[in-house]
Amino acid sequence: MALLEVHHMSHDFGGLRAVNNYSLNIEPGEIHGLIGPNGAGKTTIFNLITGIYRPTEGDIRLDNASIVGLQPYQIAARGLGRTFQNLQLWRHMTVLEHVMMARYSKLTYGLVGAFFGTPKRKREESESREKAQVLMELFGVDRFANQIVLNLPYGAQRRVEMARAMAMEPKILFLDEPTAGMNPEELIQMMEIIRRAHRKFGVGIFLIEHRMRFVMELCQEIQTLVFGEVIAEGTPEEIQNNPKVIEAYLGSEMVE
Ligand SMILES: Nc1ncnc2c1ncn2[C@@H]1O[C@H](COP(=O)(O)OP(=O)(O)OP(=O)(O)O)[C@@H](O)[C@H]1O
Ligand SMILES: [Mg+2]
Repeated sequence: MALLEVHHMSHDFGGLRAVNNYSLNIEPGEIHGLIGPNGAGKTTIFNLITGIYRPTEGDIRLDNASIVGLQPYQIAARGLGRTFQNLQLWRHMTVLEHVMMARYSKLTYGLVGAFFGTPKRKREESESREKAQVLMELFGVDRFANQIVLNLPYGAQRRVEMARAMAMEPKILFLDEPTAGMNPEELIQMMEIIRRAHRKFGVGIFLIEHRMRFVMELCQEIQTLVFGEVIAEGTPEEIQNNPKVIEAYLGSEMVE
Protein backbone atom coordinates (compact mmCIF):
# COMPACT_ATOMS: atom_id res chain seq x y z
CA MET A 1 0.00 0.00 0.00
CA ALA A 2 1.22 3.52 -0.79
CA LEU A 3 2.59 5.62 2.04
CA LEU A 4 1.61 8.91 0.43
CA GLU A 5 -1.09 9.36 -2.19
CA VAL A 6 -2.27 12.52 -3.87
CA HIS A 7 -5.43 12.33 -5.95
CA HIS A 8 -6.29 14.94 -8.60
CA MET A 9 -5.03 17.91 -6.60
CA SER A 10 -5.36 21.43 -8.01
CA HIS A 11 -4.56 24.81 -6.55
CA ASP A 12 -5.39 28.35 -7.59
CA PHE A 13 -3.65 31.51 -6.41
CA GLY A 14 -6.35 34.03 -7.24
CA GLY A 15 -6.79 33.64 -10.99
CA LEU A 16 -3.58 31.62 -11.46
CA ARG A 17 -3.87 27.82 -11.56
CA ALA A 18 -0.48 26.94 -10.04
CA VAL A 19 -1.11 23.18 -9.83
CA ASN A 20 -3.51 21.30 -12.09
CA ASN A 21 -4.87 17.77 -11.56
CA TYR A 22 -1.73 16.50 -9.82
CA SER A 23 -1.54 12.90 -8.61
CA LEU A 24 1.24 11.04 -6.80
CA ASN A 25 1.99 7.67 -5.23
CA ILE A 26 5.00 7.10 -3.00
CA GLU A 27 5.65 3.65 -1.51
CA PRO A 28 7.36 3.26 1.87
CA GLY A 29 11.09 3.81 1.44
CA GLU A 30 10.83 5.05 -2.15
CA ILE A 31 12.88 8.01 -3.42
CA HIS A 32 10.67 10.05 -5.73
CA GLY A 33 11.85 13.10 -7.69
CA LEU A 34 10.00 16.20 -8.86
CA ILE A 35 11.70 18.29 -11.55
CA GLY A 36 10.68 21.14 -13.80
CA PRO A 37 11.49 24.74 -14.74
CA ASN A 38 11.37 27.69 -12.33
CA GLY A 39 7.82 28.61 -11.40
CA ALA A 40 6.40 25.23 -12.50
CA GLY A 41 4.66 24.74 -9.14
CA LYS A 42 7.05 22.32 -7.39
CA THR A 43 7.31 24.15 -4.07
CA THR A 44 3.57 24.81 -4.18
CA ILE A 45 3.00 21.03 -4.32
CA PHE A 46 5.20 20.62 -1.21
CA ASN A 47 3.29 23.42 0.54
CA LEU A 48 -0.04 21.82 -0.34
CA ILE A 49 0.91 18.37 0.92
CA THR A 50 2.56 19.69 4.10
CA GLY A 51 -0.52 21.76 5.02
CA ILE A 52 0.80 25.27 4.42
CA TYR A 53 -1.86 25.74 1.73
CA ARG A 54 -5.14 23.92 1.39
CA PRO A 55 -5.77 22.52 -2.10
CA THR A 56 -8.62 24.00 -4.12
CA GLU A 57 -9.48 20.46 -5.25
CA GLY A 58 -8.35 16.90 -4.58
CA ASP A 59 -7.34 14.61 -1.76
CA ILE A 60 -4.04 13.86 0.00
CA ARG A 61 -3.65 10.62 1.96
CA LEU A 62 -0.86 9.65 4.33
CA ASP A 63 -1.02 6.05 5.54
CA ASN A 64 -4.42 5.83 3.93
CA ALA A 65 -5.99 8.69 5.94
CA SER A 66 -6.81 12.06 4.46
CA ILE A 67 -4.65 14.93 5.75
CA VAL A 68 -6.42 17.74 3.88
CA GLY A 69 -7.26 20.57 6.27
CA LEU A 70 -4.82 19.49 8.99
CA GLN A 71 -2.30 22.01 10.33
CA PRO A 72 1.37 21.61 9.30
CA TYR A 73 2.38 20.49 12.81
CA GLN A 74 -0.32 17.81 12.79
CA ILE A 75 0.88 16.54 9.44
CA ALA A 76 4.47 16.55 10.71
CA ALA A 77 3.38 14.52 13.75
CA ARG A 78 1.87 11.92 11.42
CA GLY A 79 5.27 11.30 9.91
CA LEU A 80 5.93 13.90 7.23
CA GLY A 81 9.22 15.79 7.65
CA ARG A 82 10.50 18.57 5.41
CA THR A 83 13.22 21.08 4.64
CA PHE A 84 12.68 24.41 2.90
CA GLN A 85 13.94 25.90 -0.36
CA ASN A 86 15.14 28.89 1.65
CA LEU A 87 16.73 27.60 4.82
CA GLN A 88 14.54 28.00 7.88
CA LEU A 89 16.72 27.66 10.94
CA TRP A 90 16.79 29.41 14.31
CA ARG A 91 19.91 31.38 13.63
CA HIS A 92 21.01 31.81 17.23
CA MET A 93 20.43 28.27 18.43
CA THR A 94 23.14 25.65 18.42
CA VAL A 95 23.14 22.60 16.18
CA LEU A 96 22.48 20.29 19.13
CA GLU A 97 19.57 22.48 20.26
CA HIS A 98 18.01 22.26 16.81
CA VAL A 99 18.09 18.49 16.77
CA MET A 100 17.02 18.17 20.43
CA MET A 101 14.14 20.64 19.99
CA ALA A 102 12.72 18.61 17.15
CA ARG A 103 12.90 15.50 19.33
CA TYR A 104 10.75 17.07 22.06
CA SER A 105 7.65 16.20 20.09
CA LYS A 106 8.66 12.56 20.63
CA LEU A 107 9.12 12.73 24.42
CA THR A 108 6.33 11.37 26.58
CA TYR A 109 7.32 12.16 30.16
CA GLY A 110 4.79 15.01 30.42
CA LEU A 111 4.66 18.05 32.69
CA VAL A 112 5.11 16.21 35.97
CA GLY A 113 8.22 14.57 34.61
CA ALA A 114 9.50 17.91 33.35
CA PHE A 115 9.14 19.54 36.78
CA PHE A 116 10.29 16.74 39.03
CA GLY A 117 12.95 15.05 36.94
CA THR A 118 11.39 11.61 37.17
CA PRO A 119 13.48 8.57 36.11
CA LYS A 120 11.38 8.35 32.96
CA ARG A 121 12.36 11.90 32.06
CA LYS A 122 16.04 11.22 32.69
CA ARG A 123 15.94 8.05 30.62
CA GLU A 124 14.09 9.69 27.74
CA GLU A 125 16.38 12.69 27.75
CA SER A 126 19.54 10.67 27.66
CA GLU A 127 18.11 8.49 24.88
CA SER A 128 17.17 11.65 23.07
CA ARG A 129 20.67 13.03 23.38
CA GLU A 130 22.15 9.81 22.05
CA LYS A 131 19.80 9.84 19.08
CA ALA A 132 20.66 13.49 18.42
CA GLN A 133 24.33 12.53 18.44
CA VAL A 134 23.73 9.73 15.91
CA LEU A 135 21.89 12.15 13.63
CA MET A 136 24.52 14.87 13.92
CA GLU A 137 27.18 12.33 12.97
CA LEU A 138 25.14 10.95 10.09
CA PHE A 139 24.64 14.45 8.66
CA GLY A 140 28.26 15.42 9.28
CA VAL A 141 27.52 18.27 11.70
CA ASP A 142 28.58 16.70 15.02
CA ARG A 143 31.76 18.76 15.12
CA PHE A 144 29.57 21.90 15.18
CA ALA A 145 27.24 20.56 17.91
CA ASN A 146 27.68 23.51 20.28
CA GLN A 147 27.98 26.28 17.70
CA ILE A 148 25.11 28.54 16.71
CA VAL A 149 23.99 27.78 13.18
CA LEU A 150 24.57 31.35 12.01
CA ASN A 151 28.33 30.67 12.10
CA LEU A 152 28.25 27.44 10.07
CA PRO A 153 29.18 27.09 6.39
CA TYR A 154 26.12 27.10 4.17
CA GLY A 155 26.31 23.42 3.24
CA ALA A 156 26.45 22.48 6.93
CA GLN A 157 23.38 24.63 7.67
CA ARG A 158 21.43 22.68 5.09
CA ARG A 159 22.53 19.44 6.72
CA VAL A 160 21.38 20.73 10.12
CA GLU A 161 17.96 21.37 8.64
CA MET A 162 17.86 17.77 7.43
CA ALA A 163 19.06 16.37 10.75
CA ARG A 164 16.32 18.36 12.49
CA ALA A 165 13.67 16.98 10.14
CA MET A 166 14.93 13.42 10.70
CA ALA A 167 14.87 13.91 14.49
CA MET A 168 11.09 13.67 14.35
CA GLU A 169 11.48 10.18 12.88
CA PRO A 170 9.42 10.86 9.76
CA LYS A 171 8.17 8.11 7.47
CA ILE A 172 8.74 10.43 4.54
CA LEU A 173 11.08 13.37 4.12
CA PHE A 174 10.44 16.25 1.70
CA LEU A 175 13.59 17.95 0.43
CA ASP A 176 13.19 21.19 -1.54
CA GLU A 177 16.40 21.73 -3.55
CA PRO A 178 18.81 20.35 -0.94
CA THR A 179 21.83 21.17 -3.11
CA ALA A 180 20.85 24.76 -3.99
CA GLY A 181 23.87 27.03 -3.65
CA MET A 182 26.28 24.14 -3.02
CA ASN A 183 29.62 23.66 -4.68
CA PRO A 184 30.37 20.37 -6.50
CA GLU A 185 32.16 18.91 -3.50
CA GLU A 186 29.26 19.67 -1.13
CA LEU A 187 26.89 18.24 -3.73
CA ILE A 188 28.63 14.87 -3.79
CA GLN A 189 28.74 14.88 0.01
CA MET A 190 24.99 15.62 0.12
CA MET A 191 24.22 12.75 -2.24
CA GLU A 192 26.17 10.36 -0.02
CA ILE A 193 24.42 11.64 3.11
CA ILE A 194 20.95 11.21 1.62
CA ARG A 195 21.87 7.69 0.55
CA ARG A 196 23.12 6.86 4.04
CA ALA A 197 20.06 8.32 5.78
CA HIS A 198 17.82 6.43 3.38
CA ARG A 199 19.64 3.15 4.02
CA LYS A 200 19.76 3.58 7.78
CA PHE A 201 16.19 4.68 8.42
CA GLY A 202 14.38 3.33 5.35
CA VAL A 203 12.67 6.72 5.10
CA GLY A 204 10.73 7.62 1.95
CA ILE A 205 12.04 10.73 0.19
CA PHE A 206 10.27 13.25 -2.02
CA LEU A 207 12.90 15.39 -3.68
CA ILE A 208 12.74 18.64 -5.68
CA GLU A 209 16.02 19.31 -7.49
CA HIS A 210 17.48 21.14 -10.45
CA ARG A 211 20.82 19.30 -10.42
CA MET A 212 20.08 16.52 -12.88
CA ARG A 213 22.89 14.15 -12.01
CA PHE A 214 21.74 14.21 -8.42
CA VAL A 215 18.11 13.46 -9.30
CA MET A 216 18.93 10.77 -11.82
CA GLU A 217 21.29 8.94 -9.49
CA LEU A 218 19.07 9.03 -6.41
CA CYS A 219 15.49 8.61 -7.58
CA GLN A 220 13.58 5.50 -8.53
CA GLU A 221 10.70 7.44 -10.06
CA ILE A 222 10.60 11.02 -11.38
CA GLN A 223 7.82 13.40 -12.36
CA THR A 224 8.35 16.39 -14.63
CA LEU A 225 6.15 19.37 -13.91
CA VAL A 226 5.60 22.21 -16.40
CA PHE A 227 3.10 25.03 -15.78
CA GLY A 228 1.55 23.10 -12.89
CA GLU A 229 0.99 19.90 -14.86
CA VAL A 230 2.86 16.61 -14.93
CA ILE A 231 4.03 16.14 -18.52
CA ALA A 232 5.98 12.93 -17.89
CA GLU A 233 6.49 10.36 -15.17
CA GLY A 234 8.84 7.38 -15.08
CA THR A 235 12.26 5.98 -14.23
CA PRO A 236 15.33 8.22 -14.59
CA GLU A 237 16.09 6.57 -17.92
CA GLU A 238 12.58 7.09 -19.24
CA ILE A 239 12.62 10.75 -18.16
CA GLN A 240 16.03 11.45 -19.67
CA ASN A 241 14.94 10.05 -23.02
CA ASN A 242 11.48 11.56 -23.12
CA PRO A 243 11.31 14.11 -25.99
CA LYS A 244 8.66 16.21 -24.19
CA VAL A 245 10.89 16.52 -21.11
CA ILE A 246 13.96 17.35 -23.18
CA GLU A 247 12.07 20.05 -25.04
CA ALA A 248 10.34 21.62 -22.04
CA TYR A 249 13.11 21.35 -19.50
CA LEU A 250 16.22 19.25 -19.87
CA GLY A 251 17.36 20.98 -23.05
CA SER A 252 17.80 24.22 -21.11
CA GLU A 253 19.10 22.68 -17.88
CA MET A 254 22.78 22.29 -17.17
CA VAL A 255 23.56 18.59 -16.95
CA GLU A 256 26.17 18.29 -14.22
N1 LIG B 1 1.77 32.45 -2.22
C1 LIG B 1 1.64 32.65 -3.54
N2 LIG B 1 0.74 33.55 -4.02
C2 LIG B 1 0.60 33.73 -5.36
N3 LIG B 1 1.30 33.08 -6.29
C3 LIG B 1 2.20 32.18 -5.89
C4 LIG B 1 2.43 31.92 -4.49
N4 LIG B 1 3.39 30.97 -4.37
C5 LIG B 1 3.76 30.66 -5.63
N5 LIG B 1 3.05 31.37 -6.53
C6 LIG B 1 3.13 31.27 -8.00
O1 LIG B 1 2.86 29.91 -8.34
C7 LIG B 1 3.73 29.47 -9.38
C8 LIG B 1 4.53 28.27 -8.89
O2 LIG B 1 5.50 28.68 -7.93
P1 LIG B 1 6.43 27.66 -7.16
O3 LIG B 1 7.19 28.43 -6.15
O4 LIG B 1 5.62 26.52 -6.69
O5 LIG B 1 7.40 27.17 -8.33
P2 LIG B 1 8.68 26.20 -8.28
O6 LIG B 1 8.44 25.14 -9.29
O7 LIG B 1 8.97 25.78 -6.89
O8 LIG B 1 9.83 27.16 -8.84
P3 LIG B 1 11.41 27.25 -8.44
O9 LIG B 1 12.10 26.16 -9.23
O10 LIG B 1 11.80 28.60 -8.93
O11 LIG B 1 11.53 27.10 -6.97
C9 LIG B 1 4.59 30.67 -9.76
O12 LIG B 1 3.96 31.30 -10.84
C10 LIG B 1 4.54 31.54 -8.52
O13 LIG B 1 4.72 32.88 -8.85
MG1 LIG C 1 10.53 26.06 -5.60
